[in-house]
Amino acid sequence: ASAFAYRDGELCVEGVALARIAEAVGTPFYCYSAGRLRERARALKAALGPLGVDIHFAMKANGNQAVLALFAAEGIGADIVSGGELARALAAGIPPGHVVFSGVGKTAGEIDAALAAGIHQINVESFEELHLVETLAAARGIVAEVALRINPDVDAETHAKITTGKKDNKFGIDVDRLARLDNELKALAHVRVVGLAIHIGSQIMSAGPFLAAYRTLLAAADTLKARGVPLTRLDLGGGFGIPYENELEFSFADLAGAIRETVAGKGYALAVEPGRSLVADAGVLVSRVAFVKDAGHMQFAVLDAAMNDLVRPAMYEAHHDIVPVRAPAAGAVPVEYDVVGPICESSDTFARRLKLAPLAAGDLVVLATAGAYGATMSSTYNGRALIPEVMVDGDRFAVVRRRVEIAEQIGWDSVPDFIAAPKT
Ligand code: LLP
Repeated sequence: ASAFAYRDGELCVEGVALARIAEAVGTPFYCYSAGRLRERARALKAALGPLGVDIHFAMKANGNQAVLALFAAEGIGADIVSGGELARALAAGIPPGHVVFSGVGKTAGEIDAALAAGIHQINVESFEELHLVETLAAARGIVAEVALRINPDVDAETHAKITTGKKDNKFGIDVDRLARLDNELKALAHVRVVGLAIHIGSQIMSAGPFLAAYRTLLAAADTLKARGVPLTRLDLGGGFGIPYENELEFSFADLAGAIRETVAGKGYALAVEPGRSLVADAGVLVSRVAFVKDAGHMQFAVLDAAMNDLVRPAMYEAHHDIVPVRAPAAGAVPVEYDVVGPICESSDTFARRLKLAPLAAGDLVVLATAGAYGATMSSTYNGRALIPEVMVDGDRFAVVRRRVEIAEQIGWDSVPDFIAAPKT
C-alpha cells in the first residue's frame, strides 16, 4: 500500500489521518512517512548494495534530525555542504567516518571542523581549496583524505550529451588540467588524494547522463593512477530524479546498470550521494485554504502555506501536485483555481489554472512530493513562523520540529543603544 492513500474519504499517511495531525499541530506543516523513507533507502540499497556502493544522503534535501537518524539506522551516511550540516549530521548519530564534505566554498573554519571530527572524505573542488586543506591538516599534524571533484563536461539536462562551455562552470576541476598536475598532487604532505568525485546535476530522469559521466570519471581516475596517484575511491554523486507530475520513474536498476557497465569491479570503492530521490516522495506539505477568492473572471484558492514554506514553485516553476485531504464527493464538478499563498508578491503561486473539486475556506489540501528541498529551503519572509515538521510511523506520529513562532524570532534580533537608548 502507498504511504499516502485515502481511507474512508480521508487522506492518510500510513495509519494516521492528516486531518488529525492538522488538528493537533495546526497548519501549515510538513509531514513525512517513516515507512516511505525506509522503503526508498532500502530500494537504493537493494539496487546498489550488490555492487558494493556506499550511500551518503545529501542532507541539503532534508536535514531534519529524525530523518537523519532514520537513515543512520539504515546504514546511510551523510553528504554535507557546510559546518552547520556537519553539526546536524553528527548530532543525529551519523558516524564521522560516514560523512563526506562537498561544496565549492568551504571556509577554513568549516574544513578545520571536519578535520577535527575525522570525517571520511573532503570532496575538494579547486587547487586553491586543496592547498587550504594542506595547511589546515599540517597545523593539526594529520593527513586529510580528499577526493577531487572533477567537471566531467557532461550535459545532465539532455540525454548523455557532451557539452562545451562547461569550463565556465563553478563546480569541479577540469579533467585535463588535473592529469597534468600529478606531481603537485604527490608532493602534498598532509593531504592524501584518495579518489575522484562527480556530481552532474539534479532531477535527472534517466541513467544515460550517468553512463557518460561515470565513463569520464573512470578514465580520469585510471589516468591519474597510471601517473602514480594511488586512487582507491570514486564518488558518483547524486541527482537521481523523482516523478513530480507524470514523468516515468527514475530506475535504480538502470542506475545500477550504468555503474556495472562503467566503474564497478575496477578496483575502486564506490559511493553515491543522493538527496531528492530518498526523501521527495516521502513528504507532503499540508495547508488550509484561507479564502476562496472569486475574482470574477477567475478563482483564487488562497492557502495558509506560502513560498517561504515551499519555495520550489516560485524559484524553479516546479510542479507539486495539489490534492484535497477530504476526498471530493463523487460527481463533483471541477473548478479552475490559481492556488496561491498569502505573501505579497505574485511569485507566491503554487499552481495556475488547476482543476480541482470545489474548495471552501477551511478545507485542507496537500502539496505532494515535498519531502526534498522543502523545509530546508524555507524562510521567515513576511514575518512568518517556521512551520512544524511531523513524522508518521505506522499509526504513530510525532512533531520532529516544532513551529518557531514570531515571539521567539523577535528575540533573535537586538536593538543597540545607539538606535534607542534605554530609558532611565
Ligand atoms: N551532491 C552534490 C555535490 C550536490 O550539489 C547535490 C545537489 C547533491 C549531491 C544531491 O542532489 P540530488 O540527489 O538531490 O539531486 N534546490 C533544488 C535542487 C538543488 C540540488 C543541488 N545539489 C531543487 O529544489 O530542485
